[in-house]
Amino acid sequence: MPSGSPPPYGGGIVKPLPREWFVPHGGSAEMRWDTLAGTGLYTPNERFFVRNHTATPLIDPRTWRLRVHGSALRGGGAEFSAADLRTLPARTVDAVLECAGNGRRFWAEQQGTPAPGTPWGLGGVGMAAWRGVPLADLLRAAGLGPDAVDVLPSGLDPEYTVGGRNLGHVRRPLPIAKALDADVLVAYEMNGEPLPPDHGAPARLVVPGWVGVASIKWLGDVEVADRPLGSPWNTEYYRLFGPAQPEGGGPALTGQVVKSAFELARGAVLAAGRSHRLCGRSWSGTGPVREVGVSTDGGLVWRPAELLDPPAGHGWTRWCLDWRPPAPGRYGLRARATDGRGAVQPAEAEFNREGYLFGAVVVHPVTVV
Ligand code: MTE
Repeated sequence: MPSGSPPPYGGGIVKPLPREWFVPHGGSAEMRWDTLAGTGLYTPNERFFVRNHTATPLIDPRTWRLRVHGSALRGGGAEFSAADLRTLPARTVDAVLECAGNGRRFWAEQQGTPAPGTPWGLGGVGMAAWRGVPLADLLRAAGLGPDAVDVLPSGLDPEYTVGGRNLGHVRRPLPIAKALDADVLVAYEMNGEPLPPDHGAPARLVVPGWVGVASIKWLGDVEVADRPLGSPWNTEYYRLFGPAQPEGGGPALTGQVVKSAFELARGAVLAAGRSHRLCGRSWSGTGPVREVGVSTDGGLVWRPAELLDPPAGHGWTRWCLDWRPPAPGRYGLRARATDGRGAVQPAEAEFNREGYLFGAVVVHPVTVV
């Protein structure tokens, strides 16, 4: 932790949240991109963003059990202890985890269409090496039958109450096909360390590429049903509502969109007459990033950034580009990524009422003096 930090803030979050590393948002904490440079490909656990609906629970791993039950299991289901998980074959998956609301403040700031909710900048995202047991293996061990339709993982954090309504434990169904994806893990390690309390200890789900809410923390219960399951997190929240959506709303959100961020303060002051190395990272829920273009002239000319990481898996790609500002003044830097499927960041994002999935190129202001 850097020295001289103010006392930690953030009701409900256990780890220290120094202001050098985090922007507070009530009970959640956003990672600061401007101090990320030099930290390596993986986001260190102590710097990883936290998004909590209520508060981080402290769960005793010795008494913790994961209960797998439901109508699509043969027999009575199964229970796994933390020790049981460690006896099963483990897998490590490098994956970005990102909140669906990441970038929400740019609906207002960049497009003039504010959306309610946590005003994340671009720091509701991080990448880690997650280690654990594929969810599919646990479902099979619990007697998965052929009729399974939906899988509903639930968290052990306190029940979530909003507007006087108790919505119960945070939970969100996954279709069985996704639940059986070998990269979907019940993870107990993050970047080689035991999963920290704020990130879901003793075990959490990790659903690479999907909206962060799919990755249920403090996993305690998984229902496997032979019929579709619902929860407010796939019917009311984490769906798109708005002019471009069907009446009554679009389907439940699944994959994240392509995004980019500079490892630089917004409003940074750069010296004229010398070259600056502009660096950042790009990621996508639908495939590894293949190409990043950077524009320093309002989007007229796009120069290819140098990719520092080969496009792979569910991770992000670091990139850099040298820039010698032509003259003092105010500039809007832009980074635009394209993923392996050809999805590219647009100049403008299509509005939705809750302000999810802001995937447009974000203009990053700097002043050259
Ligand atoms: N799981 C539970 N049980 N409770 C939560 O509040 N928040 C979700 C998801 N899983 C949440 C949860 C959301 S919205 C996100 S973006 C990610 O966890 C954030 O994971 P992190 O806090 O480890 O970064």
